[in-house]
Amino acid sequence: MLKNDLLEQWDRENFFHPSTHLAQHARGESPIRVVTGGEGCHITDREGNRLLDAFAGLYCVNAGYGRTQIADAIAEQARELAYYHSYVGHGTEASITLAKMILDRAPKGMSKVYFGLSGSDANETNIKLIWYYNNILGRPEKKKIISRWRGYHGSGLITGSLTGLELFHKKFDLPLAQVIHTDAPYYFRRPDAAMSEQAFSAHLADELEALIEREGADTIAAFIGEPVLGTGGIVPPPAGYWSAIQDVLDKHDILLVADEVVTGFGRLGSMFGSDHYGLKPDLITIAKGLTSAYAPLSGSIVGDRIWKVLEQGTDENGPIGHGWTYSAHPIGAAAGVANLKLIDDLDLIGNAADVGAYLNTEMHSALGDHAHVGEIRGEGMLCAVELVEDRDNRKYFEPSRKVGAAIAAAMTERGVIARAMPQGDIIGYAPPFCLTRQEADRVVSVTADAIGAVLG
Ligand SMILES: Cc1ncc(COP(=O)(O)O)c(C=O)c1O
Repeated sequence: MLKNDLLEQWDRENFFHPSTHLAQHARGESPIRVVTGGEGCHITDREGNRLLDAFAGLYCVNAGYGRTQIADAIAEQARELAYYHSYVGHGTEASITLAKMILDRAPKGMSKVYFGLSGSDANETNIKLIWYYNNILGRPEKKKIISRWRGYHGSGLITGSLTGLELFHKKFDLPLAQVIHTDAPYYFRRPDAAMSEQAFSAHLADELEALIEREGADTIAAFIGEPVLGTGGIVPPPAGYWSAIQDVLDKHDILLVADEVVTGFGRLGSMFGSDHYGLKPDLITIAKGLTSAYAPLSGSIVGDRIWKVLEQGTDENGPIGHGWTYSAHPIGAAAGVANLKLIDDLDLIGNAADVGAYLNTEMHSALGDHAHVGEIRGEGMLCAVELVEDRDNRKYFEPSRKVGAAIAAAMTERGVIARAMPQGDIIGYAPPFCLTRQEADRVVSVTADAIGAVLG
């Protein structure tokens, strides 16, 4: 094992880490963990700690760590052909096969897959395609994109604008003017405690419609949303939400982008969140679970309605002016093929549904009555525990107390990684799909211990 005593110093001197307090890190006030290995649901670090990773990295190592089938496919592809581009009709066996495998699994009405490298660049592609689409249709004014507060869609210029979290806007001059936000479907934080889920969904659809009418439907191109809000708090939609939203979008001829970077390929216990909740998207964003993060790869799945117009556009204007050097990179594509095959062969989506339900049930049994647990929610292999100061009055902790971060840190000390979600005191869980019931029990008991240690 690599044991270089200078690594910590090199890290603090040279490495710009994403989503990190840069000054504290440089001053040595925050810990460094050098991760050296992984097997199943566990990672190891160079100090010899073995941790149960109940967030699968950044909810991406869906197949679990140490899968030799995927590693071998990557190595074989690298030896045979590490790279060739996919411009002007070029492809590799892996990229062509993967496009077919994705469409075989995708919801109805999808036509083609464009490959990128990250969820952010896939959403960037989606917005460009939407603008191109409306220009070809002769509607140059129909360009604005509606996103939700607490949505997460990446951290580029347009995608950071789509993301509805303050930290991603502040001091970056975002959001850009083409992006507007509407309320999050966050039932626990509904304005009126007496509202039913259905009533809250109807209220959100009315708010959306009012926003569209204020802006003018002829200026709104698309609505983007994650089937289940992810980084914004792991919040499944209230009953009736997606059908109410879909009706408003259809009425005003507004496209729907389903951002399935987290939910795609099984996280909810079904292949796609769009099918799980009955969405009819025009574009679907995929990344993370496509390769279980064994190699960087993302995609925009383009629906029939947009695809026809893209073809028309290239007949009128020549080849599409969009592409990355690494689009459909063969190594990422080989990882994707091996990963999707493995997920099928081991029925990992079935396990995500089964053990995910068990994790949620056990979390409820252990913590449902705790005085500082406001809500436990989840879907498939996703779960969240939201902490509050006073559960009867839905009173939140002062953000400066950083209760969520303290609980996540106390869990790590006890050998389990969960994620303190960035906005609110919310502990998030998104384990690899191969989680066992015994491992789920450990996640629950460590959570309960850590909450006890931090909040008494
Ligand atoms: C729903 C969703 N969309 C997009 C992204 C951005 O993906 P990436 O970090 O690969 O750019 C993420 C990342 O967490 C995500 O959760």
